Amino acid sequence: MQDPDLVFSELDLQEGDCFLDLGCGPGDYSIRASRLVGDSGKVYSLDKNRDSIVDLRNRIVSGGNKNIRAEVCDIVGSLPVKDSSVDICFISTVLHSLNLADVENALFGEIRRVLKPEGRLAIIECKKEAQPCGPPIDMRLSPEELETTITKYVFNKIGLRDLGYNYLIQFRRVPDSPSNPVRQISGSIELRPVGVIKNKIERPFLVAGEDGLKMRESLEDTLETIHENSEAASNIVIDESLAGILDGIEEYSHLLILYWAHRVPEDGRSLTRVHPMGRIDIPQTGIFSTCSPARPNPVLTTVVRLKGRKGNVLEVSGLDAVDGSPVVDIKPYVKDFYPQEGVHIPEWMQQLQEEVARDN
Ligand SMILES: C[S@@+](CC[C@H](N)C(=O)[O-])C[C@H]1O[C@@H](n2cnc3c(N)ncnc32)[C@H](O)[C@@H]1O
Repeated sequence: MQDPDLVFSELDLQEGDCFLDLGCGPGDYSIRASRLVGDSGKVYSLDKNRDSIVDLRNRIVSGGNKNIRAEVCDIVGSLPVKDSSVDICFISTVLHSLNLADVENALFGEIRRVLKPEGRLAIIECKKEAQPCGPPIDMRLSPEELETTITKYVFNKIGLRDLGYNYLIQFRRVPDSPSNPVRQISGSIELRPVGVIKNKIERPFLVAGEDGLKMRESLEDTLETIHENSEAASNIVIDESLAGILDGIEEYSHLLILYWAHRVPEDGRSLTRVHPMGRIDIPQTGIFSTCSPARPNPVLTTVVRLKGRKGNVLEVSGLDAVDGSPVVDIKPYVKDFYPQEGVHIPEWMQQLQEEVARDN
């Protein structure tokens, strides 16, 4: 245990609190917490190591810590704890031993579930620096790395305390907001590339950054590039492990390709308004009323002509994606799926379409 007085003064446990100790090991923190939360409080001590839990249960019996429930549990699964019941979830020197990238969604989603609306998550980890003992440096997690990961799950960092070789970092769960239901969805959605685009298009004709969307070249050259791209040949190489996924596709003349604009920088993903096509002569408008490649999730769509298929490779024309773009999905293009009557578009979009068509 780290300096327990320091740790528990930071944790500021109150009588009646519910304390969840994930990866509790021998349970020293759990036992101390049990005294602080008292008979009206509760301590859950979970560890995947059966021997640790058996030993801790013996300590509980001999110490009379009736408010501790010690259970064998893999913390990277569902936790045997009720929704919104925990005041403090505590994880000491455990996270570095997990493959956090693989388990973070499950782990922090579950921690969010069991914490009270403004409950706290307190983590002790070894500093990421060479030390005489402890895990190898490349396994260690810095406070900044933890902050980047955990705030994705709708937590705010509320404190960082030096413990010598270790540190204690604390987060507060941001309560669900009925007025912003999107913020209640924590974590990220995982997309798997199903293929990759191979062609001669080396770079996007629009560039995005924190200062907006711009054409890389003059308007004339950009229109020329759009024209070239509308005829460009591309191969879409589908992951061989998805055998069978292309069966029947040759019966369509056109396909709708959804691809990830992998060259859009992070800055470009936080834009909300742009000049369409980077044209400063057209007033800024919301990204969702444009086809800007810079968008929060840069999933772009293009209808292409299917020229042929060779095994797992589709030969198409008219795909404006840059070489190496990951393909997210492919759908058949069925023109009757889309409304034909009563379709109207803004004047500026009409003007852009006419300029592109004129150039062709
Ligand atoms: C270094 S010990 C820390 C014990 C205790 N938290 C402390 O600081 O004294 C790490 C503990 O995490 C537990 N652990 C590691 N991965 C786990 C998992 N996926 N589920 C539950 N416990 C885990 C191990 O069994 C071990 O008891």
